[in-house]
Amino acid sequence: MAKRKLGILISGRGSNMASLVEASRTNDSPYEVVLVASDKPDAAGLEWAAERGIPIFAQSPKGMPKAEYEAAIDSALRKAGVEAIALAGYMRLLSDAFVGRWQGRIVNIHPSLLPKYKGLDTHSRALEAGDTVAGCSVHIVTEELDAGELLGQAEVPVLPGDTPHSLAVRVLEQEHLLYPRVVAEWLNRWDCSRLP
Ligand code: GRF
Repeated sequence: MAKRKLGILISGRGSNMASLVEASRTNDSPYEVVLVASDKPDAAGLEWAAERGIPIFAQSPKGMPKAEYEAAIDSALRKAGVEAIALAGYMRLLSDAFVGRWQGRIVNIHPSLLPKYKGLDTHSRALEAGDTVAGCSVHIVTEELDAGELLGQAEVPVLPGDTPHSLAVRVLEQEHLLYPRVVAEWLNRWDCSRLP
């Protein structure tokens, strides 16, 4: 079966994007990465992707109405033939209109065990709460922040003496395993009748 065409949105180092790309380069991967786009033209992940021959798109939203900016991203994704979008450290909220146009076709990875700690500073908040287990979640993106259907989670024990940084490092290792596995499972479940 033809591979699904995945677009990835990043804002920074792009380590989750890299794990998705690396996993896609196996014969049994149900997807290929056809575009990496960033709202930060100097995002380190863009260079990593370009060096590996993946088409990139960089557009800063500065000085542009949000709708115009998102229309530019939408157009780049559609030109690349993207069927599904993975957010990988994309630090900008997508508008309801954008999410609506890609309904059910956008996933995100979040560094907490949702529904706990939506939004930012997840590791500090887990430590302050005295949690003994932290982790990461992959979910469908809906209009509400970090609230769509959960597709998979990985737990990470909190260790004595953990700082937000040390916990983030261990959670990130699990993110790199979880995201490609869950994205592959998700796209394997798609059937052609679900395509618009
Ligand atoms: C990750 O922790 C991810 O869960 C969160 O932002 C971070 C992005 O890191 N959404 P990277 O750019 O993928 O390295």
